[in-house]
Amino acid sequence: APEPATLVIFGATGDLARRKLLPAVFGLWQDGLLGSAFNIVGVGRQEMTDEGFGDFVLEALRSSKETDAPQPGALEKFRELLYYEHGDFGGDEVYSLVQKELDRAQDAHGGRKNALFYLSTPPSLFEPISAGLGRLGLADESEGWRRLVIEKPFGRDLGSARELNAAIHRVWDESQVYRIDHYLGKETVQNLMAIRFGNAIFEPLWNRAMIDHVQITAAEDLGLEGRAGYYEEAGVIRDMLQNHLLQLFALTAMEPPVAFDAGAIRDEKVKVLRAVRPIPQGRVAEVAAFGQYGPGTLYGEAVPGYREEPGVREGSPTPTHVAVRLEVDNWRWQGVPFFLRTGKRLPKKVTEIAVVFKRPPLGMFPGGTERNVLAFRIQPDEGVSLKFSSKSPGQEMVLREVVMDFRYDAFGAQLESPYSRLLLDAMLGDATLFPREDEVDCAWQLVSGLLERAEDTPPQEFPNYPAGTWGPEAADRLIGPDRRWRRL
Ligand code: BG6
Repeated sequence: APEPATLVIFGATGDLARRKLLPAVFGLWQDGLLGSAFNIVGVGRQEMTDEGFGDFVLEALRSSKETDAPQPGALEKFRELLYYEHGDFGGDEVYSLVQKELDRAQDAHGGRKNALFYLSTPPSLFEPISAGLGRLGLADESEGWRRLVIEKPFGRDLGSARELNAAIHRVWDESQVYRIDHYLGKETVQNLMAIRFGNAIFEPLWNRAMIDHVQITAAEDLGLEGRAGYYEEAGVIRDMLQNHLLQLFALTAMEPPVAFDAGAIRDEKVKVLRAVRPIPQGRVAEVAAFGQYGPGTLYGEAVPGYREEPGVREGSPTPTHVAVRLEVDNWRWQGVPFFLRTGKRLPKKVTEIAVVFKRPPLGMFPGGTERNVLAFRIQPDEGVSLKFSSKSPGQEMVLREVVMDFRYDAFGAQLESPYSRLLLDAMLGDATLFPREDEVDCAWQLVSGLLERAEDTPPQEFPNYPAGTWGPEAADRLIGPDRRWRRL
């Protein structure tokens, strides 16, 4: 269990805290994973008493779908751990109030003043809060460890991410910084490393001799969910590709690390991100396709197009779908394209990494032979399957594709929310599942060319796919003609 500590949540009454963070903290606490001495200080701009914050948190837990069922009396006990402070994040006062909260907890925390500062605020506040904590000496570790957790988006392009990193490093050492990418907290994403490096049979196949290409898909059925203000600024490249999809890519493509620890794993991820061929200026259309959904039908119901969503600009050029082809210039992957795609308002929610193998060198059976596929089902229906060809029973030699399937439900355990895992890791000081500064930098470099091009795409090209379909035709052309996106 972690040492006694205070979790300080900036933006504690915001949407993310309410829907994801607080339920995750409660789940960890109820399972006894947060140690014997733990408390939470919510910080916001809104004035509120400890009582009022307690009401807010309990209400959030009661209405959340992610909260584990509370044991009798648990909610009331949890409420006793909650404190609240408010103020202006640009001034000093709010940080001295936080300071006082740490002093107050010191005795109960065995004399230590360990603190995890979680920035669950709009990105424009990351820098002022980090600086404010610094001014009041709250990043100083002489009385206990101090860590900073930063939510996404980390910058909005390469330049702003570098500025943010520099601003943070004026106060914090990199070893104190935990940048969240919640995809890394997913069990099935961690399992990629377990399967690749915990078995001897996969790695020998994991290269250009055996693999034809790799497909990474993160399809979402959801539309904007009232987040137009954010999404109009972000678009699909910043929202999903720069972070979640590139992380899935890095874990799939990286070399085996020399040890299972934060330094070694993050070194390998950076190495492979650096090996990705830069997107050629002026030739973006050859390696990427953008889309925006129009009105359509999803699960039998009519849904509006992106431009009809409340809060979206008229004629908005924001992409909601992207497909991209990455080439990796290293020995392992030379000539093996990685196709990544993600979009909103697709026919269903499904995230998958499919490793598609080469056809056998000699096609001696009638009807030809198919490519074998090893598919990691990240969500839902979590599992791993291997598709290969088998003789179909009968007089003739006819081959059929069959599937060997591992399903997570075989473990009989519920999968934890990624936030629980990441929060606990940060409390324990394990940064393995948090992108390091140079990783974030590489990821922004990689998408720079795409961002420019997306921003210049003539808006009259949009919308180019109806809601409830698998994205624009240009995405099919991108992978074709001799390969096809998997039907999921
Ligand atoms: C978030 C994006 O980071 O990830 C959302 O901002 C997206 O737009 C979400 O819906 C997807 O996460 P998950 O875990 O539901 O696949």
